[in-house]
Order: sequence, then C-alpha cells, then structure tokens
Amino acid sequence: MLDIRDLHVKYGNIEALQGVSFHVNQGEMVALLGANGAGKSTTLMSIMRLPPPEGPVVTRGSITYNGVNLLSASPHDVVAVHGIGLVPEGRHIFGNLTVFENLKIATYARKDQEQIAKDYERVFTLFPRLADRKHQRGDTLSGGEQQMLAMGRAFMSGVNCILLDEPSMGLAPLLMQELFRVLSELNAAGTTILVVEQNARIALKHAHRAYVLEAGQIVMEGSAAELASNPEIRKAYLG
Ligand SMILES: Nc1ncnc2c1ncn2[C@@H]1O[C@H](COP(=O)(O)OP(=O)(O)OP(=O)(O)O)[C@@H](O)[C@H]1O
Ligand SMILES: [Mg+2]
Repeated sequence: MLDIRDLHVKYGNIEALQGVSFHVNQGEMVALLGANGAGKSTTLMSIMRLPPPEGPVVTRGSITYNGVNLLSASPHDVVAVHGIGLVPEGRHIFGNLTVFENLKIATYARKDQEQIAKDYERVFTLFPRLADRKHQRGDTLSGGEQQMLAMGRAFMSGVNCILLDEPSMGLAPLLMQELFRVLSELNAAGTTILVVEQNARIALKHAHRAYVLEAGQIVMEGSAAELASNPEIRKAYLG
C-alpha cells in the first residue's frame, strides 16, 4: 500500500537519499534500520511531505499510497485525507497542555465523534499510565510517558498507517518492551506500521519485515527472522 520507488532527495546540495525503494503492505509492521545519518528520518519526512528547511526536496522517484501519488499531496492531506500519521523523533508534544488536551488536538480534523470516543478509551486502555495522568501537563511527564502520549496522539488522529521515528530512544529496556508490545497490539488490530529504529534487536523482534539503510541506500532487506539471523546484521547491529 505504501510504495517508495527510486527515491532521491536533497537538502541543498547534499543528497540524503540516493535511490531508495521499499514498500509496506497493508496491515504489516515493517522496520527501517540504520546508523546515525543513514537517512531514516529523511525517509519519513519525505513521506509526510514536510517542507524545507526541515524536510528534504524530492528530486527523483515516487511515493504512492494505495496507488495515489503522495508527492503532490500537502502535509495536511497526508494525515487528514490519506490517513498517515508520524510520531516524530523527540516526541514534540505540547508541554503546556495536559495529556487529554494533547490527545484532543490530534482529533481536530475528524468528524466521527462516536469513533473518537472509542479511540480515547482504547488509548487509555493501551496506556493506563496516560489515563492516570489525564490532567497532568505534558512537560511534567517522564520521557517514556511522553513517548506514549506521542503514540496516543498519532492514534487519535484517526490514521490507519503510523510512521514512528526511533520510539525506543532514551527509554529504559522495560518501557521499550512495553511500547513495542503496544505497537504490536495496534498492528494486530489493523494499523499499518513503519518503524525507524537504531535498536535493531527490539525492532526485529516485533516487525514482520525490515530494510537496512546505509548512507542513503537500502543495502539489505528480508523477513525480520532472516535479518535477525544474518551474520552481517548480527555483527553491525545486534552486537
Ligand atoms: N534539514 C537538514 N538540512 C541539511 N541536511 C540535513 C537535514 N536533515 C538531515 N540532514 C542530513 O541528511 C542525512 C540523513 O539524516 P537523517 O536525519 O535522515 O538521518 P537518520 O538516519 O535519521 O539519523 P539518526 O539515527 O541520527 O536520527 C544526514 O547526513 C544529515 O546531516
Ligand atoms: Mg533520525
């Protein structure tokens, strides 16, 4: 459903992606692995159509979603019309708003009030910690709780495909497990997931398939099980 072909992108004169191709089928959970600077966030920003200077300029290739060309979509339409949501690196929640207000803002483009009510229930069931802290300000949440809120917000935006940029970053192992467990649950309930990770171990444990990005190019791909047992991957990413 999400199909990226021969994607070339630039920041000014820097070619950050040089012919990247991969796809994510409906209902799949796919991991995009790679070291610092490989182009992982750039790939997600390209899909979300984030404009420069933060986002890159696409110079060649295509991004389609359910057969529709995303390159001509606005950042707003990627979320509101196509149903793709991003949980960015560093979370970007609103510190001066409460947990509930942060979730509510995400629903602004939705009109399905009944489903919105159900979705709040679902987020608070998936993340009981957020339910306990409904009226707490965002900036007083722990790092892990902020990450949960960022995921909850993507879910509340009513999207059916979620892109996550290094959700495990800065989290203690137990919390990391907890977050990926929720991701797997969301995925099993039908949400398509593309997760960018440097932590290959946890990503390969939960994803169906994975791609490895190196210096702006896909250098390896396969099922999560194949990659987890690949000697090169083990050496470079699994320690
Ligand atoms: N706004 C920008 N302007 C110029 N260059 C950029 C910009 N954003 C990223 N880059 C460059 O593009 C390349 C890919 O960066 P990107 O952020 O996609 O890497 P990443 O794989 O997400 O790395 P990390 O794991 O460190 O987050 C890097 O060389 C980076 O310096
Ligand atoms: Mg990044």
